[in-house]
Amino acid sequence: MILKKINFKKGKKKLNNRIVVSPMCQYSARDGCPTEWHYRHLSNLCLSGASLVTLESTAVSNHGRISNKDLAIGTNKQKKEFKKLINFLQSNNKTLVGIQLSHAGRKGSSEVPWIKKNSPLKGKSSWQTISSSELPKDKGWPKPKKMSHKDIKSVINDFKKAILNSLEVNFDSLELHMAHGYLLHQFLSPVCNTRNDNFGGSMEKRFKFPLEIARVARRLWPKNKLLGARITGEDHLKDGIKISETVKFCKKLENIGFDYVCVSSGGILTKTDLKFKKFFRARLAREIKKKTKLKVGITGMTDDFILAEKYIKKGYFDNVFIGRPFLKNPFFLYNQKILRRKGLKILPTQYARAF
Ligand SMILES: Cc1cc2nc3c(=O)[nH]c(=O)nc-3n(C[C@H](O)[C@H](O)[C@H](O)COP(=O)(O)O)c2cc1C
Repeated sequence: MILKKINFKKGKKKLNNRIVVSPMCQYSARDGCPTEWHYRHLSNLCLSGASLVTLESTAVSNHGRISNKDLAIGTNKQKKEFKKLINFLQSNNKTLVGIQLSHAGRKGSSEVPWIKKNSPLKGKSSWQTISSSELPKDKGWPKPKKMSHKDIKSVINDFKKAILNSLEVNFDSLELHMAHGYLLHQFLSPVCNTRNDNFGGSMEKRFKFPLEIARVARRLWPKNKLLGARITGEDHLKDGIKISETVKFCKKLENIGFDYVCVSSGGILTKTDLKFKKFFRARLAREIKKKTKLKVGITGMTDDFILAEKYIKKGYFDNVFIGRPFLKNPFFLYNQKILRRKGLKILPTQYARAF
């Protein structure tokens, strides 16, 4: 199963196998633009054998970045630099290349993690963050500004611009980041969203802002390219999002015309009850798969391909979004027994000759 194609609706791009490179922040951008590091890092990943390489979380505007070293795709200069990079990656490889669009909200204005972990920027390079409410990200973090209706409109416009730029760059897929405690998750989660206007209070109202952006994405993104969202299965907190609510949200994404969701979880607060073990999100993915027709991906400790094969066969999820193993070794798929037997076809032909 892991080597089987995923067919989406007719006329749409296919995924050649069930392995996707998960988006991973590199904090190596210059003024939001990709650098030499991105050429090196992404070239390797495009030779990995995965069907799709999703670029790291890319902010819809400079203001939406996590740190000053994040990628962003809001300006013409950024669009131009992305175009060069993506042309290069696509010109010598058949691996699909996707973008993940995000806005960090209250998680923005952060120090790069290897300089200082979980730490807000100080001084001139910092900025006033925004969120659904005034609750800070964590102890020691500044209060974000609670977004006015004008701010909400302005961020929707930023998404619009970034989606159009991504289209011009010619990405194969577009994924909205609605998880990991970033801005759209800050509206979805009752742990963070304490509003009582049109954008908070009831579950439907918490859904409203992320769904408006989802509708904009569906309207602007071509039907033959993949459109998905990274969502949170659960907040892993007593008063947080539960899977029953996520299923309802996914149903809405399905009705809007999304092709897939990738199930993540946690991240709305620094400390949650999340317990890590192999395929710990399989239960969440399975619920979404049971109740929607979306293709469902899963992320988090999913690189045991014998187990992945078993779960995909059972219909728990459709594919795996793998992160850290690809950083440790971009070519780790080459040594997987399950791929060796029939899997050579997923490798670049030039390299498959070595086996
Ligand atoms: C260095 C690093 C950067 C990450 N950046 C992102 C990101 O930009 N967007 C995102 O949705 N997830 C991000 N993640 C989460 C990964 O995409 C993935 O879901 C997570 O690492 C779990 O998968 P794994 O167990 O295969 O590593 C990041 C993870 C790591 C280790």
